[in-house]
Amino acid sequence: MNHTPVPLLFEASRPGRRCTRYQGANRTKAAAGLPAGELRDAPPALPEIAEQDLLRHFTILSQKNYAISTQFYPLGSCTMKYNPQVNEAIASQPAWAHLHPLQESGEVQGALKLMHQLQADLAEATGLPAVTLHPAAGAQGELTALMCLRAWLNDQDQPDRRTVLIPDSAHGTNPASCTLAGFKVQSLKTGPDGLTDMDDLKSKLGPHIAGLMITNPNTIGLFEENIAEICELVHEAGGRVYMDGANFNAIVGVAKPGDFGIDMMHLNLHKTFSTPHGGGGPGSGPICVTEDLRKYLPAPQVIENESGYLLATPSLSIGRVRGYHGNFMVLLRAYSYIKRLGAEGLRRVAENAVLNANYLRVKLNQHWRVPFDGICMHEFVARPTKEMKENGVHTLDIAKRLIELGYHPPTVYFPLVVAEAIMAEPTETECKETLDGYIEAMIQIAEEARRGDEALHKAPQNTPVSRVDEARAVKDPKLCFTCG
Ligand SMILES: Cc1ncc(COP(=O)(O)O)c(C=O)c1O
Repeated sequence: MNHTPVPLLFEASRPGRRCTRYQGANRTKAAAGLPAGELRDAPPALPEIAEQDLLRHFTILSQKNYAISTQFYPLGSCTMKYNPQVNEAIASQPAWAHLHPLQESGEVQGALKLMHQLQADLAEATGLPAVTLHPAAGAQGELTALMCLRAWLNDQDQPDRRTVLIPDSAHGTNPASCTLAGFKVQSLKTGPDGLTDMDDLKSKLGPHIAGLMITNPNTIGLFEENIAEICELVHEAGGRVYMDGANFNAIVGVAKPGDFGIDMMHLNLHKTFSTPHGGGGPGSGPICVTEDLRKYLPAPQVIENESGYLLATPSLSIGRVRGYHGNFMVLLRAYSYIKRLGAEGLRRVAENAVLNANYLRVKLNQHWRVPFDGICMHEFVARPTKEMKENGVHTLDIAKRLIELGYHPPTVYFPLVVAEAIMAEPTETECKETLDGYIEAMIQIAEEARRGDEALHKAPQNTPVSRVDEARAVKDPKLCFTCG
């Protein structure tokens, strides 16, 4: 056998392995530049493995990933939709991939033009004219907008307005961003219809209010029908309205938040605009704001004048929120998606996202409890029935059983306002056959749960690791390949 030995790098970090000094030929070469005390006496004790075996090792590891490119991924609120391959092909073009963020504006006119047009497209889609492409994620977009809000309040001589109202169904990043930006959070109740409780809102408005953060469609998958009135009330009270646009894929091309009276919002390009989520990144969370807030946006902004495209700092900018000009390669993919679909195509995205979610809801509502069982937007929340709960079946059991049946579970135990929530978002890119497969699996699990099937508590049994103590796994993770 003709093995080409390749050192397996991660083995070097095995516990118990130590680097020792090496006296061999390499020592002389290395000695040219390194202090003697830093040189090895012996080659590193790295295991050797054939290139082909190494390739197999990494290929097999990569196949253990559950990914949108391999299976259905109905993770509610996360919008795990297809990342078009054409975006990847465009992003890998050397003309884009070899750009450097420190190049002079004159050398990167094409890239600046693309960013300028993307800003204009996002402004058009949201009805909010001023856009920054800087923030690296939805959560950073929230923080950026709230920092702009603070700057605006200070300019209005209203620094004591420190309270931001947030519905209790909101994503955890909303209160977290609020606190980071130096505001206090006051929670708003969700009414029995799954929408923001208007009486609660009215009772909490006052001169201490800086603004409201609202997600629309909300995290229950419902459109906040009173949004225009909500905005009016907050404005009358002297505050501004921030919209968490994580669920914009349900309304893109159909409605413009600027028309509801929204002042600021973020977009998760890795949701609505099809860019990859990555492993916790690379994200992109541009924010769009009203004209009067433009001057507070982060620096630099791409602007156009008679000599072309250039970077400029808004007059009262809050400064930088990240390095360079934003996550450019993600912006490029989002731009490609928008241009390929056009306004009509984007509208169809929203229509099909809503259609797919309602198809699932209607097929499953006879088997599961669907607490808000009207027309939903792009996602809906279900939960176990009373009978299932009496059989000791919890949402966690359902999620684990889905894994056993080959599906990534939907989002579970969120939103917090629905106990034992199972929130599924099929996205617009899945076909009927895929949805039918998932429906079948969910119906099968519902039958098992009604029977109180013991197997539900043991699932998944066909995965390398079955149930783990999840709290301990977070606090005391075993990250070492050889830990066993
Ligand atoms: C409703 C909502 N808001 C905010 C966020 C935060 O977005 P990001 O993960 O891009 O920071 C998410 C993420 O899933 C979300 O679902």
